[in-house]
Amino acid sequence: MSIGTKRAPSERKDLLDIQSLSVAEIEFLLETAVPFKELFSRSVKKVPSLRGKTVLTLFYEPSTRTLSSFEIAANRLSADVTNFSVSTSSVVKGETILDTIETLQSMRIDYIVIRHSVSGVPNLVARHTRASVLNAGDGFHAHPTQALLDAFTLREVTGDLGGRRVLIVGDLLHSRVARSTSQIFRKLGTEVGVMGPATLIPRTRHDFLRRFTDWEEAMAWKPDAIYLLRVQLERQKEQFFPSIGEYHRLYGLTTERLRRMSDAGIYLMHPGPVNRGVEICDEAMAYERSLINRQVENGIAVRMAALYWLTPGHGCPGT
Ligand code: CP
Repeated sequence: MSIGTKRAPSERKDLLDIQSLSVAEIEFLLETAVPFKELFSRSVKKVPSLRGKTVLTLFYEPSTRTLSSFEIAANRLSADVTNFSVSTSSVVKGETILDTIETLQSMRIDYIVIRHSVSGVPNLVARHTRASVLNAGDGFHAHPTQALLDAFTLREVTGDLGGRRVLIVGDLLHSRVARSTSQIFRKLGTEVGVMGPATLIPRTRHDFLRRFTDWEEAMAWKPDAIYLLRVQLERQKEQFFPSIGEYHRLYGLTTERLRRMSDAGIYLMHPGPVNRGVEICDEAMAYERSLINRQVENGIAVRMAALYWLTPGHGCPGT
């Protein structure tokens, strides 16, 4: 595929979740990310695909990876990027999100990348703007570009996701990453297992989701990758386990478990940020089969693919 200025228009205005994407759309995004990643090893890493377009990042929650990754992705597509600073905006004077969006709409923004603590806010925004909306994480709901980069990364090292097994460990209850990532893996034919404290695993059971109570049981399943989740203390309104030390001992990746992963050739994944001594030991950061840094690098390529793919204004009256 050539990645010049010409784009095949997609039927999609917005990227809000993984659930609503078809397998063909996911495959298209993953394939499109491949030539974008190849750009990274060139001295000039830019293409003119979105020249003249404006991308606005609107983050109501903190972010290191997703925000900078979207900014770099948009820059590499030659778009103009503006970071809307929520803390210094009229939001702090009580302006509603829809009034904020209407104001921004008047500025003829083409793409809005939004993160919010409340599930569904990106969907609400998408219905009130002609701009393409990309969900950068909303509440417990969805984090679609994280899921895309996870699938891209595991496929890059294994060659094929069909029949692979991914074990997701930790705080699934509060995790938008777990929701979106387990959905994308299932759609691409990867088996998904989960393990963590019973209080942090959603009660609803699904036939397609294997549940494990401890590491012994989970390792016997022979996963290809173990995907650790951060314990999201900021989202927990009650105590879900006795102590951090207890969590690490029972569910964390300890040095001993890391050695077993190494012996079995299992890949390690994590969306970041990591909490050392909680879900992950220090030694894991230098693990030979860790994909954590690769996930970050690939995040730029899949976000370039997502921006490139969406069609602002599609489906809006008068388009
Ligand atoms: N993975 C992820 O969403 O990280 P940030 O919170 O740093 O964006």
